[in-house]
Amino acid sequence: MATQRQDEAGTSESDDASEGERASVASERPLPPYPPNLGHPALHMFRQMRDTLTFGERAHRFEDVVRTRLLGQGDIFHLGHPECVKRVLLTEREKFRKSGDFGTAFGEGLLTVEGEEWQQQRDALQPLFTRDRVMTYADGMVEQMQRRTDRWEDGDRLDLQSEFTDMTLDVLFATILGRELDLDGDRRLREAAEDLHEWFVPTSYLLPPWVPTPARRRFREGKATIREEADRLLAERAGDAPADPTEADDLLSLLVGLREAGMDAAMLDDERLRDQMVTIIFAGHDTTTTSLTFACWALANNPDVKARFQAEVDELDGPPTADDVADLEVTDRVVTETLRMYPPVYALPRLTAEEVAMDGYRIPEGERVILPFRQIQRDERFFQDPDEFRPSRWDGDLRSELHNFAYAPFGGGPRICIGREFALLEAKLALATIGREFDLYWLGENDADGEPPVSPEMTLRMEQGQEFLVAER
Ligand code: HEM
Repeated sequence: MATQRQDEAGTSESDDASEGERASVASERPLPPYPPNLGHPALHMFRQMRDTLTFGERAHRFEDVVRTRLLGQGDIFHLGHPECVKRVLLTEREKFRKSGDFGTAFGEGLLTVEGEEWQQQRDALQPLFTRDRVMTYADGMVEQMQRRTDRWEDGDRLDLQSEFTDMTLDVLFATILGRELDLDGDRRLREAAEDLHEWFVPTSYLLPPWVPTPARRRFREGKATIREEADRLLAERAGDAPADPTEADDLLSLLVGLREAGMDAAMLDDERLRDQMVTIIFAGHDTTTTSLTFACWALANNPDVKARFQAEVDELDGPPTADDVADLEVTDRVVTETLRMYPPVYALPRLTAEEVAMDGYRIPEGERVILPFRQIQRDERFFQDPDEFRPSRWDGDLRSELHNFAYAPFGGGPRICIGREFALLEAKLALATIGREFDLYWLGENDADGEPPVSPEMTLRMEQGQEFLVAER
């Protein structure tokens, strides 16, 4: 069997056929191997449930393209090289479609739909997420952040992930959903938003969809609560949206305006409006929550980086504003590096829409494919000392020298994250708002490799209940 770890540029060491040739002879190719170091395929699922990240690391030790087995549900094909990611998300994207899990979980929102309907939804929502538009949310974001951090006191022990879950929901609702959440209340809604990621806990999503797990029940209840909230908000805004939906200044006005203007059939029915709200609430808060938690962990565990970060935020005249963002260079690198080492979307699923040839192997039609972003972003072929948190690696030309898809925390191609600018702005403003006033000390325990306790669900999260000590500066 050929060993297929490709080099940085993506040239296979043992296969110099062009992609065109590869595609034409796909059906003659063997299926990718089951990695020999993962034990019998019948046991893969149990090993993966026990430790998803180590399972992923081991899977790619010898080859970029491998196969693992989900007991009773067929195989999963893992594509661990940026060139494969590029083909799936960009150059050969018509050969792949979204995984059914997203549809079951989120219905017909932007994250899920495909083809013409996706294009219509994306075009309709895009104006709310351009860099210029997002910059106008900056003051509102900081106001929400301060509302919460004003209550932090010297000596507090805080579960930051839980604080950030509340904070990112506050921000999302106040900026694009047009409603300020109650700081201490709205518990049912907050818990429901949190329960949306229950669909993807490994002990649940690795099982066939008909198995009724407690996590799935919590997910369904959470989703129902968010849909009720969506109905309420949409009804409240009815008749109050600008006549021209492109002038809407938040998501709610946009959706209501589109419906009232009778535009875009794909966006209109109640079911889809609700799905859209659930999608944005899910996609828009959990990912930023985990990035902020890991960024604070990384600062607390890297005193040199923290010193540079604090020197930078100490230069600010007051709470950060949109005008300050361009000057927050260290903060920017901290966010970039956090997303490299702890990408919230650590693995992106797709299905093959037709048979494809990949790195000399064949992947049949209708199979599940995984793009392991975390794996690739920690691969020493692309990043020197990949397990070191080193924001300064981004100071020079690294970005332009890297393969475009070696760093892809927001995905890539036409379906790249629509909330990217929103998330980056929010993360930088939150770190600067907190960093000016507080020093955070990690009270949890890292493992033998210096890594924090993580819990890979739909997003890569910190294990629940991990605490930080808050010290006023
Ligand atoms: C650090 C924060 C974030 C990360 C790492 C992240 C990551 C991603 C990734 C990897 C995708 C691609 C999914 C795919 O191709 O299947 C995606 C799509 C998406 N994200 Fe984000 N995201 C973040 C924040 C946000 C925010 C703040 C919002 C909204 C306010 C958002 C809304 C969406 C939506 C609606 C899509 C689907 C886009 C489409 O298919 O056209 N995301 N995100």
